Amino acid sequence: MKIAVVGTGYVGLVTATCLAELGHAVIGLDKDRSKIVTIRSGRAPFYEPGLDDLLAANLKKGTLRFTDDEAEAIRASEVIFVCVGTPPQEDGSADMSQIEEVARTIAANLNGYKLVVEKSTVPVKTSAWIKKVMTAFKKSEHPFDVASNPEFLREGSGVEDFMNPDRVMIGVETERARDLLVRIYERFRDRVVISNIDTAELVKHASNSFLAMKISFINRIADLCERTDADVEMVARGMGLDDRIGKAFLKAGLGYGGSCFPKDVKALAKIGSELGVDMALFRMVDAINEDRIRVFVEKVRKAVWILKGKTVGVLGLAFKPETDDIREAPSIKVIDDLLKQGARLRLYDPKAADNMKGLFPEDGRAVTYVSDPYEAARGAHILLVVTEWDEIRRLDLAKVKALMVNPVLIDGRNVFDPAAVRALGFEYASIGRA
Ligand code: UGA
Repeated sequence: MKIAVVGTGYVGLVTATCLAELGHAVIGLDKDRSKIVTIRSGRAPFYEPGLDDLLAANLKKGTLRFTDDEAEAIRASEVIFVCVGTPPQEDGSADMSQIEEVARTIAANLNGYKLVVEKSTVPVKTSAWIKKVMTAFKKSEHPFDVASNPEFLREGSGVEDFMNPDRVMIGVETERARDLLVRIYERFRDRVVISNIDTAELVKHASNSFLAMKISFINRIADLCERTDADVEMVARGMGLDDRIGKAFLKAGLGYGGSCFPKDVKALAKIGSELGVDMALFRMVDAINEDRIRVFVEKVRKAVWILKGKTVGVLGLAFKPETDDIREAPSIKVIDDLLKQGARLRLYDPKAADNMKGLFPEDGRAVTYVSDPYEAARGAHILLVVTEWDEIRRLDLAKVKALMVNPVLIDGRNVFDPAAVRALGFEYASIGRA
């Protein structure tokens, strides 16, 4: 199958590479020439385990290539996956301008039948807009279909998730579109679920919002645990053993970040309200998540009282482990808050430090980046765990303690055992544990 994938961001590049791995002839398209140059050399412009190897292998096989020539990529392909960004706007709705632009470009280059597949996360009803735009801008009478095939990849395990999906959601309204997508995903035929387009679009937003709801739910339970003798880790375990609840996404902490959950919960609340549905539940999920920063910084303040002039070590900057992505990372708001209170920060992350330097440049006074987690602890009055990288879980805490001015540890991800840490002489606080 001849496929174009528009957008070489996280979703687009994983999709293009994995579709090539499934045996299709894939052209990845991006307007950003510098990105194309990097990708052509066999390197992803971001960190994702396993992606570089698969990318290089498929480039070598010749089944995968990349270009910034929109007309050429679209004209050479029968199926076009749209993987451009739909970033959040001020009012919570998704900015759909890049999707509209792609629809116009495809319409202008219709040289035969095209199947346009929405892969980016979009609000329900987007396909109707794509159809309208394409009909208005098309320069020929060739037929086209629009379909929805949402992706469920997690950053950090995107390749693995693509190649071993729980389900492949296909939202279509014609047999031709259905047959093409079923052929593309032939290898996962037993996991293909076919629906209409609105349903497939909604499955994506509903799935992400449900997972976000589990996180906000357990975080509020953690607040409750802190006012009782309950332990949120045990509460989550006890709940999760019920198959109907499941143990995943019940990890209490600093809340969810990333380019998906915060944006998708807000966007679903917005589109639901526009359609006349009471979306208070979703707004509350978002509000609880926003409140996690206050809860965490309050613990820091309680431990050291005055932050002005204090040295704070920060362990972990990425929005979660195994990625260099800092979009909507809780660390950003924590850092911002601590800087406003006059703290001096020593920041460490195994992969995300360079990205964070764009937001908080190193100035040698208030902001210092270190390349070793122990260096974050050196001279610190307090040390914070913000992202639960394995490397951080495995720290030698006795060594950490020896480097600090005061052994105070605030664990925003519950990575350490409270009894063991306290036995070493730390003052220790975590989330929802006595
Ligand atoms: C999420 C979904 O899990 C994917 O299925 C989906 O395809 C993707 O969004 C997307 O829409 O593109 P991702 O954002 O990569 O994937 O990350 P997750 O692993 O889901 O974690 C999201 C956030 O929730 C992270 O900040 C993580 O630290 C936090 N989290 C997760 C918790 O705070 N507690 C948990 O128990 C689980």
